[in-house]
Amino acid sequence: MKRTVQRKVILITGCSSGFGFLMAARLAAQGHQVIATMRDISKKDALLVEAEKRGGTSNLAVLALDVTDPKTVRSALSRIREQYGFVDVVINNAGVGMMGFFEDALEEDFRFLFEVNFFGVLNVLREILPVMRQHGKGQIINISSVSAFFGSAGYSTYCSSKWALEGFSESLYLELAPLGIKVNLVEPGSYHTRIFEENSHFVKNFDNKDSFYYKVSQQLKASVEQYMKTLDKDPEEVAELVEQIVEGQRTSFRNVIGFRSNVRYWLLKLMSFESFARRAYKPTY
Ligand SMILES: NC(=O)c1ccc[n+]([C@@H]2O[C@H](COP(=O)([O-])OP(=O)(O)OC[C@H]3O[C@@H](n4cnc5c(N)ncnc54)[C@H](OP(=O)(O)O)[C@@H]3O)[C@@H](O)[C@H]2O)c1
Repeated sequence: MKRTVQRKVILITGCSSGFGFLMAARLAAQGHQVIATMRDISKKDALLVEAEKRGGTSNLAVLALDVTDPKTVRSALSRIREQYGFVDVVINNAGVGMMGFFEDALEEDFRFLFEVNFFGVLNVLREILPVMRQHGKGQIINISSVSAFFGSAGYSTYCSSKWALEGFSESLYLELAPLGIKVNLVEPGSYHTRIFEENSHFVKNFDNKDSFYYKVSQQLKASVEQYMKTLDKDPEEVAELVEQIVEGQRTSFRNVIGFRSNVRYWLLKLMSFESFARRAYKPTY
């Protein structure tokens, strides 16, 4: 049953799959006006079917937006302004992952991840913030990760891009709070979405048999694939939490999802990194 909520205009990036897909369908079904964006608009049908199933099609618009291409951001935002006037909430969800050890990574691997996970967020906010500031209201929800508060061997590209997003978001929170604009971070643990399947990326020398790291890289890949087979957490949990933030039932800046992730988060607050690292995965070379 739909609850009575204050209807908001919500822009979400990266809605062709995973969390973005679920958030878009869920928030539209809840009665919000959702502008679901994706870089390849030909992928929109699955989302429209899901929205229909949940009863939210009339509140859902799909627009093309590649977060790494400011032109597409500008053009989507100008269409949104013409049609809906003001965007109440922007959810910076689009993101990419990458596996591989630092020495096997090229600079372009890091740049690729930062272009999407960090500069992509900046591209969207550059367009949207001046209007929010003029109106003295608005909400920015950045989808970060537990990888933003503990590093993992074999994930330096991803972790560093999400850590950058966290530092940026904390600073933005302080800059925008006096202007009436809210900033929230959402930090999910692992969920089986396409980021671990067809959207997965590997550093350039991941499969280089001459690399010192070849053996551990392949072991890491196999263990993640195995873990994904057993992972039964429902990504809808993330969409539900985001809905609670949008609707004001949750007001924390930082939102860690799930029991295990919360345990890790709080342990890290209490323990030194070194004592935490003693228990963390370390490769055997
Ligand atoms: N799944 C997890 O375990 C997990 C955990 C913590 C945080 N996260 C974060 O959650 C967010 C969503 O990931 P997900 O798990 O839902 O993975 P996903 O299913 O792979 O979804 C990622 C989405 O981002 C889009 N995207 C990639 N590059 C883009 C670009 N340049 N412009 C616009 N959209 C782009 C993808 O679109 P295409 O279809 O065009 O590639 C896709 O729709 C990411 O920020 C990720 O880092 C995920």
